[in-house]
Amino acid sequence: DAAPRTQGPATRLVIVANRLPVRWSDEGEEGGRWIPSPGGLVSAVGPAIAQRPGDAAWIGWTGAATEEEPFEVDGLHLHPVAMSDDEKVLFYDGMSNGTLWPLYHDKVVPSEFHRHWFDGYKRVNRRYAEAAAAAAGPEATVWVHDYQLQLVPGMLRELRPDLRIGFFLHIPFPPPEVFQALPWREQLAQGMLGADLNGFQTPEAAANFRRLTMRLGLAEAHGDESVVAGDRVVRACAYPIGIDVARYEGAAHDRETTERARDLRARLGAPHTVLLGVDRLDYTKGIDVRLRALKELLDEGSLNPATVTMVQIAQPSRDDVEAYITLREEVERLVGQINGDHSRVGFPILHYIHQDVEFEELMAMYRAADVMLVTPFRDGMNLVAKEYVAARYDLTGSLVLSEFAGAATELADALLVNPYDVDGLKAAIVRAVSMPPAEARERMERMRAAVEANDASEWADRFLRDLAADRERVTT
Ligand code: G6P
Repeated sequence: DAAPRTQGPATRLVIVANRLPVRWSDEGEEGGRWIPSPGGLVSAVGPAIAQRPGDAAWIGWTGAATEEEPFEVDGLHLHPVAMSDDEKVLFYDGMSNGTLWPLYHDKVVPSEFHRHWFDGYKRVNRRYAEAAAAAAGPEATVWVHDYQLQLVPGMLRELRPDLRIGFFLHIPFPPPEVFQALPWREQLAQGMLGADLNGFQTPEAAANFRRLTMRLGLAEAHGDESVVAGDRVVRACAYPIGIDVARYEGAAHDRETTERARDLRARLGAPHTVLLGVDRLDYTKGIDVRLRALKELLDEGSLNPATVTMVQIAQPSRDDVEAYITLREEVERLVGQINGDHSRVGFPILHYIHQDVEFEELMAMYRAADVMLVTPFRDGMNLVAKEYVAARYDLTGSLVLSEFAGAATELADALLVNPYDVDGLKAAIVRAVSMPPAEARERMERMRAAVEANDASEWADRFLRDLAADRERVTT
């Protein structure tokens, strides 16, 4: 429940992310309501911060253009940042999701460079930096998140040199050879160097960043996991993000979830095997190739439409960006073809849901699914894979996982696939569908141990502890 709140003068920890953990939805009763924001950032950082004792504030966008007062949700003090429609086009649709997102994800679609997009990005980053500077108490810690806000650490250091500043990138960080094409490469790298600690999902991403700063002549090597920029030591290393394990395991055990899962399978026509995909509708997620693999398996008769059903959740995302519009058309064309060729009346073979799905329903899906397909072309981590594993307390179910998702390092016992390789994907799906229970059990047991070993709140503790540690001074 949201309650109004005025800003406290001495907040010790300030989270800065493009989105607040909740966003305003116009749907529902009485003209609208707050719903959880989409994506892995909010689902991991939200609970990790809410569980910490003390006064934490979160600065971000509600999805609205108008200025709003601070308010409180689940003990977190939320400070909305307003963004005009024009700024949304330049900063969010443009520079964040038309330039940086594709560039950092292997250029799955081309990355576009426009000077007016970067100008909008700077303007909005400054607003976030100013809001953080105003909210943070003396010598407080500010933790900035993700690619939308890469200039904020540098701006904040100028405004408030007394602060401890951390930055965490939730998505991949590309090799310098790719990053260097950006006309604003120095500004973006300098922005991140404003932080005392830069966290990444993988050691490769951290090494890419260190290498970049040296190649651009902005920093020098310093030990294995740091660089020196001016007179400051800046750490850059990996903190692979986890999920709120207790929340997912707890919900999986709920009687209500069990009933919902049973009901779901019945509504699907009580198939022998349920396949599941859960993604934002994003071109990095590999949904199109995944559906092509399903189509071929059905066309060839390797999967029997009388015994198999697939559910694909494709949560609406960034739907004003051209590449997302094109992807939606392609995915929906494939869904139509597959259902046209293989469904019977009353029994679609593929259930495609282009809607937000509530937590309880998602848990029921994880419980109902025999095979989970997580096949992104590139993904910083992918928490859906971890959520599925957390939900499988009875050690049943198989996970097909892209080797290009950050999660593949910890979940090496999944069936790992190259998501571009349709034949490889087909073989993995067949293997998952027909996996002997003993093998599934062994794999799931090991994957569960890996997920349990890296809880979201421990992840946050680790990052904040390292951020708080005394920094070495450099004497020149
Ligand atoms: C990914 C990003 C987040 C982002 C989320 C949802 O998880 O790392 O920064 O918030 O996707 O995308 P959206 O554009 O709706 O915020």
